[in-house]
Amino acid sequence: MSGWSSRAETEHWMRTAEERARMMAPATERMLALTAIARGARVLDVGGGSGEVALQLAELVGRSGSVVAIDISAPMIEATLDAARARGLDQIEAHVADAQSLDFSSGTFDAALARNVLMFVDDLHGTLSGIRRVLKRGGRFAACTWADLQLNPFNSIVIEAVRGQGHELDLRLELLRALALWNPVNLKRSFQSAGFVDVVSEHVTSVRRYEGLQAAMTSIRNIPMYSDVYRGLSEEDKRAALNEIERGFEHFVEGDGVVRFPIASLVTFGRAA
Ligand SMILES: C[S@@+](CC[C@H](N)C(=O)[O-])C[C@H]1O[C@@H](n2cnc3c(N)ncnc32)[C@H](O)[C@@H]1O
Repeated sequence: MSGWSSRAETEHWMRTAEERARMMAPATERMLALTAIARGARVLDVGGGSGEVALQLAELVGRSGSVVAIDISAPMIEATLDAARARGLDQIEAHVADAQSLDFSSGTFDAALARNVLMFVDDLHGTLSGIRRVLKRGGRFAACTWADLQLNPFNSIVIEAVRGQGHELDLRLELLRALALWNPVNLKRSFQSAGFVDVVSEHVTSVRRYEGLQAAMTSIRNIPMYSDVYRGLSEEDKRAALNEIERGFEHFVEGDGVVRFPIASLVTFGRAA
């Protein structure tokens, strides 16, 4: 059910890159601060998507360092390589690979990042253990996951509106999977049991912004992660759910007509023991 493996969906993902970069900036900055990426470092970007984090990492490590981005989606990796080439950033390598079975020698990297990825792997322990293995001893790892649904009204409105039509949601839906790692206590334990020490987990807030209510509704209709949630409904129930979503969104329209939803991410950090 991954929405990232087709070229069309990757193109859609890239069209929304600027807004996502703005929305994710506070969490990304926190991840970069916690991992303290220095010039010359060798860094792994796990599930790097179209390369936005890898490009930032490349600037930080400079020409004497290197960034390796991996992603399970070939179109995402192509997009990363295109972006790196366009900017002349030779220090970026990108490979199609599964985060659950990293094929690097032990102790290869100084640091690793995984922004909004860990929720989508089936084997969290295997993935975290693999990341810890490929880090040098003391190497730093920061992950970002979606925080509690209560802190993310945009998503809770969509989910509640569909459930309100008496519809059971399939737990394999991307939107529900995205919410799987909201619990900081559990996530810290997962890091620790994979061999990370000095583990901390903290909420970072930001704003999801749309020019107007219709722009917010358009994204609900166009982003596969959201449209998949009401796909199974009858036409009548779908209309009712979309009306319900629009009513919920109206509470977030501000005086200037712009819609601003508070959002929260969970940033979790650990050092490889
Ligand atoms: C929400 S996107 C985040 C992309 C990027 N980290 C960012 O923040 O812009 C999730 C990414 O994880 C990738 N992904 C999902 N499962 C994966 C796996 N098992 N191994 C590697 N990448 C995976 C997807 O292809 C997608 O590019």
